[in-house]
Amino acid sequence: MTSTVPSVTEHPSAPFPWPRPPIDPPAEYQWLRQNAPVTRVEIFGGEYAWLVTRYDDVRSILSDPRVSADSRNPGYPRFGAPPEPEDQRLFLRMDGAEHEIFRNLLAKNFTLTAMKKIRPALQELVDTTIDAMLATPEGQTDFVKAVALPIPSTVLSWILGVHAEDRAFFNKAADEALMANDLTNPDAMGRAIAAMNDLRGYIRKIANERAALDDPGDDIIGQLVAAERAGTITMMDVENSGFLLIIAGHDTTTNMTALGMYTLLQHPEQWAQMQENPALVRNAVEELLRYLTVVHLVILRSSTEDIEIGGVTIPAGEAIIPLNLSANRDDAHFPGADALDIHRKARDHFAFGYGVHQCIGQALARLELQIIFETLARRVPTLKLAAPPEELQFKVWSGINGVFSLPVTW
Ligand code: HEM
Repeated sequence: MTSTVPSVTEHPSAPFPWPRPPIDPPAEYQWLRQNAPVTRVEIFGGEYAWLVTRYDDVRSILSDPRVSADSRNPGYPRFGAPPEPEDQRLFLRMDGAEHEIFRNLLAKNFTLTAMKKIRPALQELVDTTIDAMLATPEGQTDFVKAVALPIPSTVLSWILGVHAEDRAFFNKAADEALMANDLTNPDAMGRAIAAMNDLRGYIRKIANERAALDDPGDDIIGQLVAAERAGTITMMDVENSGFLLIIAGHDTTTNMTALGMYTLLQHPEQWAQMQENPALVRNAVEELLRYLTVVHLVILRSSTEDIEIGGVTIPAGEAIIPLNLSANRDDAHFPGADALDIHRKARDHFAFGYGVHQCIGQALARLELQIIFETLARRVPTLKLAAPPEELQFKVWSGINGVFSLPVTW
């Protein structure tokens, strides 16, 4: 069935996505929320997709059983990319019972009880990372390299079960893989693809080692290998799930740490309040997650039936892009949404998505961010930018927003 609603071509006219100003959403989002909250636009790669921009509509789409995350659907928004090989499918892009198998297998690693167990080691990691930063002889460093990158990749190496002696390789490959989000840099893209293959190969190697043991171990790779042994999943599923956890858990938390720090330094009065009252940190992290919505072009869906929403009908089999960044800046839900306010009650934001695919690692991400910002506020209250903001390079074309480097001093 073809669309009954004319596409919006006058405004915005360029194919979606539009470059993101460093911190705020593209200006088009507000226009769309006000004038065409559910609208069909041309997207990069010559396809069309329905953009959903209001908070209530995004929530409704993400909890609608007629909406699919399966990347094999003909209407799925691919932005011109070829379909991934069938045996490399990630559970992020699966529906129903198939998707549930992985959620059920992995959920216990991200409960509040699991977070309580990991907290002391995480605090120690943050402290030693900050010690190393403070020991930099120049008294100045790149915050991304010194803090934002190593903490999430080290934590992932613990929970997955990477050998201690392989951590340096793992952290480097995980960092290089992040460059796949920089569409503007073909060299980095090539290195990123090589790094992703290295990571897959490494996960495969440790999975095979575990499979040869009587007890495959209690970390995530061990648990997945045990599930393979029980006949629930295949060895390829073990590799795909380990790989998904790395790409979903690293880039996201790294960029959120770096952009969160940048944003706090740009709001010194709120940063000072966090230093005076550490109890504010939890709330501040939720507000930063909402305000920045770093993972802003990753939630991709398609309709399996006609869906009436926001006064229009999305026909079956068409691409849908629920814009969580737009929803998180919707004044109808978050009054004064374009302002950062660490006192705001923002926990119902969509920075982690919504519905069955809502981020499985959110408790871990929250804990990492809370410990990092609380420790920096306590130990390095003099932290400041060591470069003018206009010289910083932000990831304006990436599905996951961030800053390439963040020079700081203290
Ligand atoms: C600040 C950090 C993070 C942000 C902003 C974030 C954001 C998101 C979002 C928006 C989704 C939903 C995607 C969709 O609906 O299509 C998602 C899913 C996911 N995230 Fe995160 N994430 C973060 C950290 C993590 C961490 C630390 C892990 C694991 C170690 C993780 C693992 C995953 C996985 C496996 C999925 C797919 C879940 C599913 O399809 O059922 N994420 N994340």
